[in-house]
Amino acid sequence: MASSLFSLAGKTAVVTGGTRGIGAAIAIGLAEAGANIVLIQRSTTSTDTKTAIEGLGNGTTATVVVCDLADPASVKKIIGHITVDLGLVIDILVNCGGIQRRHPAENFPDEDWNTVLQVNLTTCWTLARDAGRHMLETEASRNGRGKIINIASLVSFQGGITVPAYTAAKHGILGLTKALSNEWSSRNINVNAVAPGYIATDMNEALIANPTRSRQIMERIPMGRWGSPDDFKGVVVFLASDASNYVTGDCITVDGGWMGR
Ligand SMILES: NC(=O)c1ccc[n+]([C@@H]2O[C@H](COP(=O)([O-])OP(=O)(O)OC[C@H]3O[C@@H](n4cnc5c(N)ncnc54)[C@H](OP(=O)(O)O)[C@@H]3O)[C@@H](O)[C@H]2O)c1
Repeated sequence: MASSLFSLAGKTAVVTGGTRGIGAAIAIGLAEAGANIVLIQRSTTSTDTKTAIEGLGNGTTATVVVCDLADPASVKKIIGHITVDLGLVIDILVNCGGIQRRHPAENFPDEDWNTVLQVNLTTCWTLARDAGRHMLETEASRNGRGKIINIASLVSFQGGITVPAYTAAKHGILGLTKALSNEWSSRNINVNAVAPGYIATDMNEALIANPTRSRQIMERIPMGRWGSPDDFKGVVVFLASDASNYVTGDCITVDGGWMGR
């Protein structure tokens, strides 16, 4: 049955950035498709996504593990914590946590450059490397292919304005996705990316609050609206499920038609 291709029943998905915005919708979407979710959060104080998943009533669970994505030492330990201390087998990793820093390039501070590169690229690499190694080691006991999904951006393809660190990191995410896919797709792991267009989340507060920029952006989007976090549920369930088993090293844009213009 085609519908069973999209089922994630019995799978475990690790999601970063799940407290709000796109990552929250992704975590809830994966749980709606049947996956148990491990939310990597910087603290346990944010409970909205965990509560939403536990309220679905389909038996899926939400486990919060604490890790600051800006702290390399903490990031290096987290997949081991999930797999060894908690004893979970990871089927799906979604690297969604991210930050934005805006400054004219000539004044861009080193500190912001380093933090953006750490959270938006190096941490994604470390988590993908460690989860990928775990997926390779547990291949025999896994029911289905391992799936790694990295959240990219339109500035994985374009340059953006006043966001050089974010652009460099998101270009890197696309390269990393292809590099990992080349090594792992013949070994039962798919690695793909999803590139959001302009999505109405906290990250875009500054753009949404600027009436001129907001109008200019809206006018350029063929669908005529900003995206919403719920627009990501379907595409991520697709990439996490058996429905996409021959799709790898690719990036799906979810942008209301922006890139085609
Ligand atoms: N919104 C867009 O238009 C857009 C466009 C292209 C790409 N994206 C990408 O989509 C992803 C999600 O974006 P969004 O708009 O949903 O962002 P958002 O609403 O600002 O949410 C960011 C998420 O990342 C988490 N996070 C950030 N720094 C962290 C850290 N040091 N440790 C742990 N968690 C951390 C946040 O946790 P806290 O709640 O603890 O802060 C939150 O869950 C990002 O990778 C972003 O680059 C977004």
